[in-house]
Amino acid sequence: MTHTDLSSPIGGLSNGVMVASGLEGICVTRTRLSRVDGQKGRLVIGGFPVEEIAPQARFEDVLHLLWFDRLPLPDESESLRRSLASERVLPAATLALLRAAAERATPHMDALRMAVASLSLAEDHPGDSSRAAQLHRAQALVARFPTIVAAYARLRRGFEPVAPDATLPHAANYLYMLTGERPDVDLVRALETYLNTVVDHGMNASTFTARVIISTRSDIVSALTGAIGALKGPLHGGAPGPALDMVFAIRDRAARSGHSLVDETESWVREKLVAGERIMGFGHRVYKVRDPRAEVLGAAAARLFEGVGDRELYGIVRRVEQVVVRVLHEHKPQRRLETNVEFYTALLLHGIGLDSDLFTPTFAIGRAGGWTAHVLEQIDEDRLIRPDAIYVGEDRHWNAA
Ligand SMILES: CC(C)(COP(=O)(O)OP(=O)(O)OC[C@H]1O[C@@H](n2cnc3c(N)ncnc32)[C@H](O)[C@@H]1OP(=O)(O)O)[C@@H](O)C(=O)NCCC(=O)NCCS
Repeated sequence: MTHTDLSSPIGGLSNGVMVASGLEGICVTRTRLSRVDGQKGRLVIGGFPVEEIAPQARFEDVLHLLWFDRLPLPDESESLRRSLASERVLPAATLALLRAAAERATPHMDALRMAVASLSLAEDHPGDSSRAAQLHRAQALVARFPTIVAAYARLRRGFEPVAPDATLPHAANYLYMLTGERPDVDLVRALETYLNTVVDHGMNASTFTARVIISTRSDIVSALTGAIGALKGPLHGGAPGPALDMVFAIRDRAARSGHSLVDETESWVREKLVAGERIMGFGHRVYKVRDPRAEVLGAAAARLFEGVGDRELYGIVRRVEQVVVRVLHEHKPQRRLETNVEFYTALLLHGIGLDSDLFTPTFAIGRAGGWTAHVLEQIDEDRLIRPDAIYVGEDRHWNAA
């Protein structure tokens, strides 16, 4: 019996056909939504550099930019804000499902995935495939993500969900539904900066998943349900919780041992690497330099921690980052493992007051904007995504006994 290595790297040749493992470097479509320059460390969202648009724009305006390819006029901005606010309420069956999930302590991303799938129940005209109907579905889905995440977070903690407040914008209302209190303006600005920063990012795994699903002429609920499943993995959107856990573990170890933070970080990272583990919040498939989103979120965290946050934690995070990057460079000098978006996501969302199990669901709230915009692009493209694979199994014959 022959054994074939199925993990052939990019460029491995079989029968004269190139195998791009992990589809690395393969362009599958054209998009006007975002441009990721991995060599220069630049990200452009809807034509704007991320560092310009993310800290300044309202999230609803970024959604308008992605869905309609231009920033809204003031009355359009207000009208989109109102129409999103009017879609926030969940079907009763979705709430019942969230209650059942909370009783079983289902992880937050699984609850979000199940709840989003159940939003087909809110579909009035499932057969209508007009552009207007698809856009309306996209908007209703984006509007309901925060309601699901906040309701579930409260149910998990033994509290009743807080009904959405239609007078509040998207980000502020999310924080309101989590706490029942109208949020501080600095926290809302920090959250909006985060949502804008992560709203879209080229052909990442979850966006690709959504596009594959809709390319079969399936429906938007299915596309977003699949995208959530792809996002939750630790190699994609599941990294910020573990990244913050790492910072806390190193800080506590330094406090116990009396060693410096630098020494403890160095030994912690080396132990993980020897054990064959990856350091969460570092490395990226496309970026060969520091992820530009880390810069934007780091600056937002600095502003937030200046006002209301734990400045000591901010300093610890900066020092841990420097040591991790140095040790990773020694570990893989060819690979250039730099800080990615998740490291500062963790710090910023923690500063906003979110528990770490809400980090990835909050990522999904932002990315839902990009997913829906890609789904609409893919509907226009209307081309089935269907790559090839090289068969490397045995050739067998069925011999009747
Ligand atoms: C993001 C990520 C999946 C990109 O990976 P990729 O482009 O597929 O890179 P590969 O998996 O091919 O990794 C290349 C090598 O670098 C190593 N590597 C990559 N990221 C690493 C990390 N964060 N820590 C330690 N080693 C890492 C891999 O183990 C691999 O080593 P090997 O060649 O000895 O097997 C990867 O960097 C990672 O797992 N990072 C940690 C998780 C994370 O932060 N995810 C959020 C991404 S925004």
